[in-house]
Amino acid sequence: ITFRFKDLTTKLCEPEQLRTKPDVTDLKFGHYFTDHMLKIFYHSKLGGWQRPVIIPFENISLHPAAKVLHYAVELFEGLKAYRGVDDKIRVFRPDLNMGRMNKSALSSGLPTFDGHELIKCINRLVEVDQEWVPHSESSSLYIRPTLIGIDGTLGVQQSESALLYVIICPVGSYFNGNDDSVSLLADPAYTRAWPGGCGDKKLGSNYGPTIRVHNRAIQKGRQQVLWLYGPNHEITEMGTMNMFVAYRNEFGEKVLATPPLSGLILPGITRQSILQLCEQWKDVRVEQRTITMDDVIKWQKAGRLLEMFGSGTACIVTPINSIEYLGEIINIPTIEHKEPLYLKVRESLHAIQYGHIKHPWAQTID
Ligand code: COI
Repeated sequence: ITFRFKDLTTKLCEPEQLRTKPDVTDLKFGHYFTDHMLKIFYHSKLGGWQRPVIIPFENISLHPAAKVLHYAVELFEGLKAYRGVDDKIRVFRPDLNMGRMNKSALSSGLPTFDGHELIKCINRLVEVDQEWVPHSESSSLYIRPTLIGIDGTLGVQQSESALLYVIICPVGSYFNGNDDSVSLLADPAYTRAWPGGCGDKKLGSNYGPTIRVHNRAIQKGRQQVLWLYGPNHEITEMGTMNMFVAYRNEFGEKVLATPPLSGLILPGITRQSILQLCEQWKDVRVEQRTITMDDVIKWQKAGRLLEMFGSGTACIVTPINSIEYLGEIINIPTIEHKEPLYLKVRESLHAIQYGHIKHPWAQTID
């Protein structure tokens, strides 16, 4: 049983409630929200999902014992809408976000729903606030669907009531424009995810505990954390991004490698799109394989390490310039090539997202 788009009602802001839109040159990530939001309540004893509503953006009121506040019964998604060269608004692969969101819901005992119905509700929200979709190809509208368990009871049990809401915000670069290339700290003392855990689900509880490690990286003069796992110091993710490494193998072939979806990795939609694009291009061999820090050091010493970059909805494609690991700095020549792969990938995604080319991954919202 799910909610339906046909039951959606919309209550628009009064003119005096409308917010001032920020300048597109000053869009700090996640700081400015639009005029409206989407809300859908669920209660197992009231027949499950209630009717979706679009309402003026407002605070939410929760019972102080709400499970989300105590046990992090929470999950979210991140996707983007883009204003294309033809002025049409496109959303990038929302079906994949919906599939992942339902998997996160199952893993948290939260209710699942029909993703197509949520996509239609989100498209309507974006349409209502369409003037907030930046008229700029260096910005987009970030869409944050969120699902929280709201039972006001302290038992560590499934929440019988839940709130799904969607807020949207115009965004520029995640790194406030300082994303030419980033430096990483790889410290095997910290672990983001482990076998049998939930590192492959988009739960808030995967992100909160990373902040102290991120702060440590900053204190050491590095910009992001490179997450390692296990005795072999396998590379898993960086910051909030999936990881890619380009190198030449012993036969001289160019390989683009990324860690496999083993449960330790978030199944990123940008990650999947990059793999699909590179497989079509055929100018690089694509491998989902375990990559250890020893591999990186070996390729670097042999002059065979070409590029490392991160990928994600918020951060798009972010090249890496160096890694601090066990007290040494490893330089990564990502941005030193004439025609780097990370740029080809970034430009291809951009062309799809902003409608420079017609592509099934980017559907207009009408
Ligand atoms: C995204 O790339 O959408 C993310 O989820 C990163 C976010 C935690 C800032």
